Amino acid sequence: MTTTQATAPAKVILFGEHAVVYGRPAIAAPVSQVRASALVADSAPAGVRLVAPDLGEAYWLADADEGDPLAAAVRLVQEAAGVAQLPYLTITVRSNIPIAGGLGSGAATAAALIRALSLHLERPDLASNEAVSSLTYEIETLHHGTPSGIDNTVVAYERLVYFVRQSPENRIETFRTGQPLRLVIADSGIRSSTRAVVGDVRRRWQAEPERFEEIFTACGRIAGAARTAIEEGKLEEVGALMQENQVWLKQMTVSAPEVDRLVEAAVEAGALGAKLSGAGRGGNIIALVTETSEATVREGLASAGARKILATVVR
Ligand code: PMV
Repeated sequence: MTTTQATAPAKVILFGEHAVVYGRPAIAAPVSQVRASALVADSAPAGVRLVAPDLGEAYWLADADEGDPLAAAVRLVQEAAGVAQLPYLTITVRSNIPIAGGLGSGAATAAALIRALSLHLERPDLASNEAVSSLTYEIETLHHGTPSGIDNTVVAYERLVYFVRQSPENRIETFRTGQPLRLVIADSGIRSSTRAVVGDVRRRWQAEPERFEEIFTACGRIAGAARTAIEEGKLEEVGALMQENQVWLKQMTVSAPEVDRLVEAAVEAGALGAKLSGAGRGGNIIALVTETSEATVREGLASAGARKILATVVR
């Protein structure tokens, strides 16, 4: 029996969420400690079985609900590979990425499945970072409506990425840190829907276009400056830019009292900077720390009500 496995990491947006939907630059980083994985195995007797043990779900591809993201990913690969009928398969998907917290769990699951199935069908061309990213984007449009493309990019490439949504082709630049970025990621415990928050920002932008364009431009300028500061290893500057980005995110109305409380607690406990990450109105915050301040910042976040705390080092 042949089996093929692939995995994809969680992600955080370091700078420029929301503004990225409107063509401004943004920066995202993989969070490699938490991941989604997909295992594709040849199996009998017939059909394609989709299994998600973490959710206690198992069903046949043929019976999947319309809009089921796993089934959609399988059909997308089938179509891209030009396979009229799939072999009999069992596809098992697992993830330890918290759901609906801005860590990209949907994108990571889709990317892992797309890569594993493409390899299993002996189509390495469809398993390249570029192909996995663009197929994952198709799946993201099912959940999000108008995704910028940054989530699928960072989970497929698993690299620090500077991203600009533009046509005919997005600008995607992976780059290196001058000094590693040590991040503490804290969950506010509030689940939020990216689609709903992105839709609400769009309505506000339509109501007050000039004001929102100015906010987006400020966020884009911050992302540009942050890239240089990250490349030069100027951590204090990176932290200050995170603080500045958070001010604009509040203006966009995408923060929340619980999120603000965590951001303030992180900075009071010695973080170089902190901000929400992802769609906002809940989800996770990120705090830039040093080896020395990490423990105190974690404690500060726990006392301020963080539900789950992760740490990662971006290189
Ligand atoms: O998936 P999330 O919650 O990290 O949000 C994605 C970031 C947004 O900029 C808000 C939307 C997008 O498509 O880029």
